[in-house]
Parts: sequence; structure tokens; C-alpha cells
Amino acid sequence: MTVHAPFDPRFDTRIDRRGTHCGKWDMMEQVYGVAPDDGLAMWVADMDFAAPDPVRDAVRALADHGVFGYFGDDGAYRAAIRWWMDLRHGWQVDPAAIFTTHGLVNGVAMCLDTWTAPGDAVVLFTPVYHAFARVIRAAGRAVVECPLTTAPDGTYAMDIDAWDAQMTGREKMVILCSPHNPGGRVWTVAELRSVADFARRHDLILVSDEIHHDLVFPGARHVPMAVAAPDIADRLVMLTAASKTFNIAGAHVGNVIVTDPALRRQFAARMAAMGMSPNTFGMHMVTAAYAPAGAAWVDDLVAYLDGNRRVFDAGVNAIPGLRSVPLQSTYLAWVDFGGTGMDRAEFTRRVEAEARIAANHGPSFGAGGDSFLRFNLGMPRAQIAEAVSRLQDAFSDLQ
Ligand SMILES: Cc1ncc(COP(=O)(O)O)c(C=O)c1O
Repeated sequence: MTVHAPFDPRFDTRIDRRGTHCGKWDMMEQVYGVAPDDGLAMWVADMDFAAPDPVRDAVRALADHGVFGYFGDDGAYRAAIRWWMDLRHGWQVDPAAIFTTHGLVNGVAMCLDTWTAPGDAVVLFTPVYHAFARVIRAAGRAVVECPLTTAPDGTYAMDIDAWDAQMTGREKMVILCSPHNPGGRVWTVAELRSVADFARRHDLILVSDEIHHDLVFPGARHVPMAVAAPDIADRLVMLTAASKTFNIAGAHVGNVIVTDPALRRQFAARMAAMGMSPNTFGMHMVTAAYAPAGAAWVDDLVAYLDGNRRVFDAGVNAIPGLRSVPLQSTYLAWVDFGGTGMDRAEFTRRVEAEARIAANHGPSFGAGGDSFLRFNLGMPRAQIAEAVSRLQDAFSDLQ
């Protein structure tokens, strides 16, 4: 396995983020006890790569202008989204259907606030992105965990019949993560349609969080829920963002896209009630990103991440007892330590104290995550190789 293709300064250059108020590096010691000086930050889902030039140019132009007042006229922003979704996902978005939130955790919270009430239940397919359950519970709603199953190839699969049997009538919403974090599944059209039918059968609002939609590896094809199941537009809410794609999560801009006029009126009313309005920097960054130069950068990024996941998986899967779930999308490797026979405390201690790697703990993703850690592969390949070598050392007694 070659660790290095020709050096690509955009992705191979190590950018020191320590001391920049960066959550991933500057909080790792507090959260995991892994010091940033010799540790590797592989938790929070942002990448250690600089955003592409058009985005940085947009920020520079704003900074040079020097007046940081309120944003107005989001026509170009909406047109850029429409262009991107059509080009990259074959989805024609009505610009009038787009609402702008402060990122997608905020978007999910706004959906909960709009279409559920305290005491209602919300369905998640677990293990799944941890912030969903966090905001659901914080909002006084209940989480219903419908467990994913494991397919023979080690990827996650749906079990709609079992989930049907779990429904009580108290559920008002289901949140799908598409592509899925963690585990990186890109759901097929048949699977998307089965979730759409599930939502209709149980009279649920379907929130489809597609934040990872641009980071899909060769062999898989992401289909937006709005394209796979146009017949459920009357209960469908699409969540998209440029934040994972272009590594601009700090801009805190997300899109809640609602086609149905009645749902749209309800969401607009909540937006107004919450006093939501856009962040000037974020709007300029996203508009600049969704352009041909941004698209070319994303193609190169995905090829680079594909290389990272190959290096990581080859090294990790060579350790007896460890299994890295084959990713079809995302830069978030989901590694099962169950085969080591160690308890959670022991394999976590080895990763943190011996390999000095900060990785997300599996249980925070809900049922099914107990024996897992999640590793962020959005960093220079040399550091991925370093992480692999540290893990091989920390579990060398299993070799
Ligand atoms: C599925 C999913 N949704 C939302 C987010 C976070 O979105 P935001 O930063 O826009 O709040 C993440 C971040 O990892 C994610 O994986």
C-alpha cells in the first residue's frame, strides 16, 4: 500500500491548528486527556485542510472591505445552491424553498421546535450522529432508537419490519442521516424509498440530513431523498450544507429546504419567532464555494480522502480483532474493537494513553456503538499513516 501519491500541498501540508481556538485540537486534552503536543486529534468532524481559494478569497475581500454589517439579498446564495444541487446531485431546488439556519444542528433543533411538541418521540436509526439525540433530549422530546443491522459485507443495513414493530403512535418525526454518519453508508434508492414509506405509514415528518452528500467514494452514488421519493414532499424536510464539503463548519450556515407550501409556512413562522437571520461571512463563503472551482477542489478532496481511508483500513484491519467498517462516504472511520475481547475501558485506554489518539467514543452514537471508536480521517496522509502505526503498536500483543 503506497502511503504517498505525489505530494499535494492542498492536502499533504500539515497546518498547525493548535492555539487557534480550534475545537478539535484545543479541546482534546480536556475531553480525552490526550495532549495536542504529541497527540492526534481524530474526533470532531472537521478536516485539517484549508478551504479552497475561492472561499478564502471571499473572506479576504470581506475583511479588506472592513465593514461587517448585516447581510441582505440572498439571491446569489440561493442561486448557487440551486446550481450545486442540480450539477452534483441532479436535484432541482426551488430557491424559494431554502431557509438558512446557523448550521444543521440548529436546523434539526428548528425542525423539532416546528413540528414536534414536548413529550413527542423522534425516531433515529442508530448508531447515528450524536448531536441528534442530544438536541432531541434537550428539547424535552424522547428518542426512539431503531437499530441498524450489519450486512454480510460489514456495512450497515436497515430493518424496516423490526422498526415498524417498535412504533407506538407517539412518534412524530424521523431523522435520517444520508449518507450515514458513522459507518458511511450511502443509502440506495430502494432503502430511501423504504424510509419514505415508513414515514408515511407512521405519519412522521421525515428530516433527511444530507450534510455528507458531496463526500462519496467511487462505486457509490448519493441520491437526495427529494429525488428518490418526490411523492412524500408533503412530509419531507431536506437538510444540506457546504460545511463538511468545503471544511467551513465554523461559518455556521445550513440549509433547511422545504418544498411543501404548508410546511414552509410553518417553518417560516418559527424562523421569524426565533429571530433568525444569516451570518454575513458564512453566506459569502458558501456562495463562493458553490462554483466550478469549488467543484474541482471537491473532486480532488474526495480522491485524497479515498486514499486516506484505504491506508487507514489496510493498517487497522491488519490488527487482529479490529474491524474498520467499509466507508462509502464521509471521512469518519468507524472501528469495531469488539473482536479484541477487551472491555471498552481497556481498548479506549490503549487508543488514548498509548496511541495518543483522540477519537469519538462509540456509545455517544446510541445503541450499537459500544464496542466502537470513530476516527476522523480528514488530515494529511502522513498523519493517517502515523495513526495506523501507533494503533499497531498499542495493540501489538494481538499480532
Ligand atoms: C449528520 C450531521 N449533521 C450535522 C452535523 C453538524 O452540522 P453543523 O455543524 O452545521 O451544525 C454533522 C457534523 O458532524 C453531521 O455529521
